[in-house]
Amino acid sequence: MRPLGIFDSGIGGLTVARAVADRMTGSPLLYFGDTAHLPYGEKSPHLIRHYASRISHHLRDEGCRAIVVACNSASSNALESVRDAVGPDIPVVDVVEPVVAHLRDRWPGGHIGVIGTRATIESGLYQRLLTSAGLEVTARATPLLASAIEEGFHQGAVSEALLAAYLGDGIFDAVDALVLGCTHYPLIADQITAHLPPSVEVVDSPAIVAEAVAALLPAETGASPDPAHRFLVSDWTDSFAHGARRFFGDAIQLEASDLWKR
Ligand code: DGL
Repeated sequence: MRPLGIFDSGIGGLTVARAVADRMTGSPLLYFGDTAHLPYGEKSPHLIRHYASRISHHLRDEGCRAIVVACNSASSNALESVRDAVGPDIPVVDVVEPVVAHLRDRWPGGHIGVIGTRATIESGLYQRLLTSAGLEVTARATPLLASAIEEGFHQGAVSEALLAAYLGDGIFDAVDALVLGCTHYPLIADQITAHLPPSVEVVDSPAIVAEAVAALLPAETGASPDPAHRFLVSDWTDSFAHGARRFFGDAIQLEASDLWKR
């Protein structure tokens, strides 16, 4: 069966891959983590587009039947490049539009907070889409969080100090919901929730994206109960291999890809 292609700058997108694997049982995944170029959140839109289109092209050539852009920084800056790279026959799902559609339906006319990388927040995509959907938006870049989480600093003093610095002024205290606009952040969702009043709901973006994938793709014939997923990284290190288990579970084995060496 043709796999679903999923990519991110690194292993953060495994939070989305986990939700897609749970929702699309029987569908094999081909994951690409561009660990050689992490973090995307600090790169220019031009460079993010270059990386994203090359990876998407590669996933298409590997036979993927759809592409999930499991990175907010790439979804916000490179979606058209991804669509151009794979052509009209391969559906592309990003992590921003399905979440905005969910928010519009769940909190019509509401006030939404968004945190994400610098590349995501500075692109203004969430702000434009949410405003067009009739919602009020408060957005803030929280650039150190993804690197700290990737480095293993979560549920502890480092992530706690970063959250105190980014959220301690109460910027999101009056919103109805907070979007974790970076696929790394679900790993510290509990800690983020603890920094917000109980009235603020933290949105489960990976589950929403997985629903969007399921809605777009026809039911599989010949689905296996235990499909063989593959996880490629563009720069293999012990620390990524170790970190991947936090994001996906013990079964994961990362393979080195030579995409950038060709
Ligand atoms: N996971 C990426 C995202 O959702 C962010 C990590 C990075 O900066 O590379 O934006």
